Amino acid sequence: MKILVVGTGAREHTICESLKDEAEIYSIMSNTNPGIARLSQYKLASESDMDKIKQFALENKVDMAIIGPEAPLEQGIVDLLEREGINCVGPTQEAAKIETDKAFMRNLFEKYNLPGSLTYKIFDNNEDMSLFLDEFDQDVVVKPVGLTGGKGVKIVGEHLKDSQEAKEYAQHIMETSMGGHPLVVIEEKVVGEEFTIQAFSDGDHLLPMPAVQDHPHAFEGDQGPITGGMGSYSDKNGVLPFLSKKEYEEAVNIMEKTINAIKKETDPYKGILYGQFMLSQDGPRLVEYNARFGDPEVMNVLPLLMTNMRDLCTDIIDGKLHKANFKAKATVCKYMVPNGYPETKAADKAIDVNENKIKDSGALIYYAAVNQKNKTIYTTASRALALVGIGETIAEAEQICEESTQFVKGDLYHRKDVGTAALIQKRINHMKELRGN
Ligand code: GLY
Repeated sequence: MKILVVGTGAREHTICESLKDEAEIYSIMSNTNPGIARLSQYKLASESDMDKIKQFALENKVDMAIIGPEAPLEQGIVDLLEREGINCVGPTQEAAKIETDKAFMRNLFEKYNLPGSLTYKIFDNNEDMSLFLDEFDQDVVVKPVGLTGGKGVKIVGEHLKDSQEAKEYAQHIMETSMGGHPLVVIEEKVVGEEFTIQAFSDGDHLLPMPAVQDHPHAFEGDQGPITGGMGSYSDKNGVLPFLSKKEYEEAVNIMEKTINAIKKETDPYKGILYGQFMLSQDGPRLVEYNARFGDPEVMNVLPLLMTNMRDLCTDIIDGKLHKANFKAKATVCKYMVPNGYPETKAADKAIDVNENKIKDSGALIYYAAVNQKNKTIYTTASRALALVGIGETIAEAEQICEESTQFVKGDLYHRKDVGTAALIQKRINHMKELRGN
C-alpha cells in the first residue's frame, strides 16, 4: 500500500517510523528532515501547498494520505484529496473546526450539552467584552478564534497581569483579526494539571491512547516562555501519576461524546483527535482540541503501538475501528532545541548526531525542524530533534532518554527535568493541594 504522509517534523517522522514495515511511504515536507527522507520517496514543498500535494499524490497513485499538521487540514486538504478519490486519515475542513475554530468548538459543547466544558463567551466588539470582564469575577484566558501556532493564548496571572490587560489584549485580537477572525474567545481560567489524550476516531468509534503530559515552558521548573512543547512522559498503566483511571475514563467519555456531536453537526470525524485537558479539583475539563497527533505527545504513544498502524488507518477510513493495543511501558521524550528558542532563534547551525551511540543507549531519535544538506544536519528556527526513552518505569525511561542527549552536539539545549521524580512529585503535590488532601 502506498501512503502519503504530509508534514516535516518529528510528528511526521514518528508516523513514518510506525508505517515503515507496512507501507511504501511518500512524503511532502518543507525541508529535508533526514528521518523522513530515509523512509520515504519525498517532494520538498510547503505542507500547505494544496496543488503540489494533490499533484504528488496523483502522480504516485497513493492509496491514502495521513495529514500531520493542522494548517493543511484548515485549508481543506482532506476534502481536496477525497474529491480525487484518495482516502485520508484526517478530518474534513468542517470537522477540523474542532481545532481551527474555537467558537465552533465551544458552541458545540454548549449545543450538545457536552461534559467538561468551561464558562466562555465570544465577542466581536469592545463594549460587550469590557462589560463581561468587569462583571466576571474570575481570572480568564483570552484566545483568538482561529489558528495562531500556539502563540495566541494568554492567561491572566501568567502572560496578562489583570483584567485591564486582558481587555487590551482582547481588543488587539479583534482589531488585528488575529488568527483570521475579528473575534475573541474569553474563557474561565481553570487551575490544575494539564494532560493529553490522543485517540483514533473513525467518526463513530474512538480508540484512546495512553495519557501523556507535555511541558510547554522553555526552561526547567516550568519557567520561561511557552514553546511548542519541550518534552513529555507517559506511564506503563496508561494513566499518569496524578491522574486516576476514573479521571482518564471521564476524559475519554468527553471525547466520545464530542465525536458523536461532530457527526450530528457536520462530517464524521475521521483521523486523530487530540484532547488537551486540565485536571481540576472537579475532574477533567476540556481546554482545547487538536485535529491531529500532538508533538511531542505522538512520540510517547506510537513507539508503543502493537496494532498494525496501516490497518488502523484503513479502519479509520472504513469506519471499522475496533482495537488498538499498546505495550505496557513508560516513556520519556525530551526535545533538543536551538539556544535562544523560542525567542531568538539560532538557525542554520550544524549539529552532530551520533545515531549509533543513541541506538546503543536504547533511546529512539526523531528529527524535527532540521534541514539536511549533503551529509550535514542544520538547525532551523524551531525544535531540532527529540529523544525518547522507553522503560518499565518513568524513572528508567527518563534515564535512558537523558543519557542519550550526550550524543547530540551543537548549539542546543533541552530540559533535563522532564520525567524526573522531583518534577512528577510536584505535579502530584499540586493536585493534592487543590483537592485539599
Ligand atoms: N503539544 C502541543 C501540540 O501538539 O499542539
